Amino acid sequence: MIWTSLLVALCASSAQAVWPIPSEYSSGEGVLWIDQSVKISYNGAGPGSYGSHNNDTSSSKVVSNAIERTYDTLFNKNFVPWKFHPRMVNFEPALTSNSTYVKSITLHQNASDPTDIMKPTIGSVDESYTLTVTSSGEVTITAASSIGISYGLTTFTQLFFKCGGGDGVYTTLAPVSIIDSPKFPWRGLNIDTSRTFKPLSDMYAMMDAMAYNKMNRLHWHITDAQAWPLEIPSMPELADKGAYISFQKYSPADVQALYEYGALLGIEVAMEIDQPGHTSSIAFSHPDLIAAFNVFPDWGTYANEPPSGTFKLNSTAVYDFLEKLFDDLLPRLKPLTSYFHLGGDEVNLNAYNLDDTVGTNDTAILQPLMQKFMDRNIAQLQAAGFTPLVWEEMLLVWNLTLPAETIVQTWLSDESVGEVVAQGHKALVGNYNYWYLDCGQGQWIDFSQETSAAAWPYPDYCSPRHNWRLMYSYDPLSGIPANSTHLVLGGEAHIWSEQTDPVNLDQMVWPRTCAAAEVLWSGAKDASGQNRSQITASPRLNEMRERLVARGVRAEPIQMPYCTQNGTQCAL
Ligand SMILES: *[C@@H]1O[C@H](CO)[C@@H](O)[C@H](O)[C@H]1NC(C)=O
Ligand SMILES: *[C@@H]1O[C@H](CO)[C@@H](O)[C@H](O)[C@H]1NC(C)=O
Ligand SMILES: *[C@@H]1O[C@H](CO)[C@@H](O)[C@H](O)[C@H]1NC(C)=O
Ligand SMILES: *[C@@H]1O[C@H](CO)[C@@H](O)[C@H](O)[C@H]1NC(C)=O
Ligand SMILES: *[C@@H]1O[C@H](CO)[C@@H](O)[C@H](O)[C@H]1NC(C)=O
Ligand SMILES: *[C@@H]1O[C@H](CO)[C@@H](O)[C@H](O)[C@H]1NC(C)=O
Ligand SMILES: *[C@@H]1O[C@H](CO)[C@@H](O)[C@H](O)[C@H]1NC(C)=O
Ligand SMILES: *[C@@H]1O[C@H](CO)[C@@H](O)[C@H](O)[C@H]1NC(C)=O
Ligand SMILES: *[C@@H]1O[C@H](CO)[C@@H](O)[C@H](O)[C@H]1NC(C)=O
Repeated sequence: MIWTSLLVALCASSAQAVWPIPSEYSSGEGVLWIDQSVKISYNGAGPGSYGSHNNDTSSSKVVSNAIERTYDTLFNKNFVPWKFHPRMVNFEPALTSNSTYVKSITLHQNASDPTDIMKPTIGSVDESYTLTVTSSGEVTITAASSIGISYGLTTFTQLFFKCGGGDGVYTTLAPVSIIDSPKFPWRGLNIDTSRTFKPLSDMYAMMDAMAYNKMNRLHWHITDAQAWPLEIPSMPELADKGAYISFQKYSPADVQALYEYGALLGIEVAMEIDQPGHTSSIAFSHPDLIAAFNVFPDWGTYANEPPSGTFKLNSTAVYDFLEKLFDDLLPRLKPLTSYFHLGGDEVNLNAYNLDDTVGTNDTAILQPLMQKFMDRNIAQLQAAGFTPLVWEEMLLVWNLTLPAETIVQTWLSDESVGEVVAQGHKALVGNYNYWYLDCGQGQWIDFSQETSAAAWPYPDYCSPRHNWRLMYSYDPLSGIPANSTHLVLGGEAHIWSEQTDPVNLDQMVWPRTCAAAEVLWSGAKDASGQNRSQITASPRLNEMRERLVARGVRAEPIQMPYCTQNGTQCAL
């Protein structure tokens, strides 16, 4: 008797399932099986005719895609949860001739998608959903948008496990009732594809994992000082000379494919062409546009990383270049996104001492030129119908006057978020002390005999490594007055790629980014206003890691089976 109740308690405590945690969630202990013949209907239409009820092709594409992924996840990419049950105990339900199966999955979209569903602006898509699973196997998902339906299906798959002794797929959580909606509308991951290149296949895989965590923005830091992998047809020399090697480029077709792949998953891409700093790679093809290019060995005076270099700040040639660049790029991105990121971080003053169009590092002279530089960029973006993003330095260090709609991305501190919203601007969070995934790898710079001792033991600028607990402890609303919390749109985790390439990308990003995803979807505090507990999150994150692995993501383990097999054994 005691053993039975202990086992039930252990199973119940480890069967929390869903990540990120829904707003309202109740479940039972009933077993339901599911098999591949289960039919999913969408607003009354059966498989093969999901689009015919309203001829709204993009909505039906989102839902058809989600349905395909649901079958694939449940039956091909599921896992046996032995790590979440005591060792050597048979925890699996018995499949008998009268076991109950899921009988129907009914998707009910109760409103039309907004017309900008494939490139939504903040607030246009209602991402909420409800999900019920009855003990007798009727499943209903209701949502106001196709993306809400897709999220409901994602949650549904997280209730099911694969049976070790056979092909069965089951849940032990019936009945289930979930009401869910996101805390923040911008839930992003920033991927740097300049310092190291990421093939499209890796970018798709990142998006798959993001969508499985209900993240909805990919910030594509596509260019930087080290390489320019972006093909611009009107200026082929940019990538021909600026990419690391000819096969590490993104063609216009690649760019379009990535945006379209994301849109079906509810992920909107915001491309960043960082400037005026972080542009040295343009000098490989256009040396006259860049000041202080590749100063050596004293690059540290002119940039945070080699090669140094920044756009000249008072140059009509630079303006002409930018106009041509954006005239080429923006019309192609227009149908695919509503956002574009203009960068603006880490501008080095001394580089302007070497700029023949200004020749000074005096901010009194440089500031009006920076204003003019960004005004030109923003005017071109707005004329093309994009909402601009910039890094916080443009507002908080350079004191630029920016249009109210500009989204200001913070990274340096929690105080920065407060200062941005105090000025009435919309802010993204991602304090580097919490959400920079690159931190704690140690230095990538080599030190000479002379400099080595001072640098020992070679920590990087943001050590230590931010493990998921640190990322999970970050509250985007920390210190934000109640009347301004609506200006915090959300945030991003960042994978700067000095030491991350396709070989370790998965491990560097997952499952730590799940912690940021849950903070952004569910909020940093629980329903009672307390900081979310690591102790209750940990079993769910361990399980989410297994789900990612089952989907082909080489996500790191966060604990040993010794911990996960027995609830709170590894808690302090
Ligand atoms: C959808 O389009 C098809 C073909 O154009 C048409 O026959 C059908 O009546 C349309 N359905 C609705 C609900 O508008
Ligand atoms: C089927 O259900 C009945 C009634 O609940 C039960 O008595 C019987 O043992 C079950 N059969 C099997 C094979 O489990
Ligand atoms: C549509 O479904 C969502 C999610 O269940 C719900 O929040 C909303 O109130 C529903 N809208 C209508 C008009 O029923
Ligand atoms: C900017 O360039 C213009 C035209 O070359 C020049 O007249 C002006 O003095 C420059 N401004 C600064 C601050 O150097
Ligand atoms: C500006 O440049 C001068 C001359 O190189 C240098 O001494 C000074 O430290 C620089 N000021 C800043 C704020 O970088
Ligand atoms: C921005 O304003 C602050 C505070 O007034 C000032 O210290 C700083 O020098 C200004 N920055 C520039 C680039 O003018
Ligand atoms: C909750 O988290 C915040 C950081 O977001 C921290 O400052 C605070 O001390 C935590 N509160 C408790 C009670 O641990
Ligand atoms: C919030 O309240 C403070 C203090 O009353 C005020 O200064 C500030 O302008 C308000 N901010 C917003 C965005 O309303
Ligand atoms: C599980 O942990 C509890 C409390 O830490 C302990 O009493 C129990 O013996 C453990 N069971 C196993 C199977 O390790």
